[in-house]
Amino acid sequence: MANIEKIGVVGAGQMGRGIAQVAAFSGYEVYLFDVNQEALDFGLDFIKKQLDRGVSKEKWDQKTADDTLARISGVTDIEGLKDVDLAIEAATENKDIKFKIFKSMDEAIKPEAILATNTSSISITEIAAVTSRPQLVAGMHFMNPVPVMKLVEGIKGLETSDETFAAVKEASEKMGKTFVSVRDMPGFAVNRILMPMINEAVYVLHEGIASVEDIDASMKLGTNQPMGPLTLADFIGLDTCLAIMEVLHEGLGDTKYRPCPLLKQYVQAGRLGRKVGRGFYSYEK
Ligand code: CAA
Repeated sequence: MANIEKIGVVGAGQMGRGIAQVAAFSGYEVYLFDVNQEALDFGLDFIKKQLDRGVSKEKWDQKTADDTLARISGVTDIEGLKDVDLAIEAATENKDIKFKIFKSMDEAIKPEAILATNTSSISITEIAAVTSRPQLVAGMHFMNPVPVMKLVEGIKGLETSDETFAAVKEASEKMGKTFVSVRDMPGFAVNRILMPMINEAVYVLHEGIASVEDIDASMKLGTNQPMGPLTLADFIGLDTCLAIMEVLHEGLGDTKYRPCPLLKQYVQAGRLGRKVGRGFYSYEK
């Protein structure tokens, strides 16, 4: 089986920086790539702050934090990933962007490397098909916040080899995650269940059935979820929620997945959730 020592992470956003942190913490040599220097610096700084917070909370010592950070190199040229054994893409949830990135990863990264995607809903088979190595492409769907959430949803595309799938399972487990195996169908398992629930919560708001606060209180206190569905939507990003609902609607062709018009309107208004300071709630910057 492929021996994974160096991991590349594509995209220094919310998910990418979390994956980079967890991979480096687990002993991997990590190359964090982002085209945007500012986004990369922000991502690296965020990781440093998370590691320092762990020291002050006595989760780990200063040496562990320093060693983890030292294992992460930031790069702004995809060529910087050429020697990695596994590259995990965590860019924006948009098909055309992912296809473009996978083509450039396929060209830049050594041919025997595994190319994984953190997509939350786009077909792994379709992403793999834009590369020259579909047998080496798999889905590794981490949950947000990556350092806290214990799951990696593993997705096997039509052409993914058993060896590739075993290697991404092993890497996920080395990162301290529980790996579940899911077929390549729209939304996989987590979002096939989670997103219709969030979308339905937006319908409950849209139809004036309950307020934002009361919807969240109902599900938090009534069903013991750690966050209400609208808080969770803000946390994930309303643009991501909408993109996933659209994939479910289009991919499964069933009207029960139609995105709520209010969700669309919030995205049109730029109320994308916590990351921009405004979604269903307002957040202090
Ligand atoms: N990064 C790293 N660590 C974080 C963090 C972050 N962004 N946010 C919180 N934490 C850590 C805290 O440091 C804290 O650690 P300790 O207990 O060791 O001190 C721990 O998480 C709990 O944090 P808090 O006490 O501040 O807050 P909380 O108890 O409300 O927990 C939460 C926060 C873990 C996010 C919790 O609210 C939760 O589990 N929410 C649901 C998250 C969820 O469902 N995620 C999946 C989203 S779906 C997805 O990601 C897939 C997709 O495709 C859309």
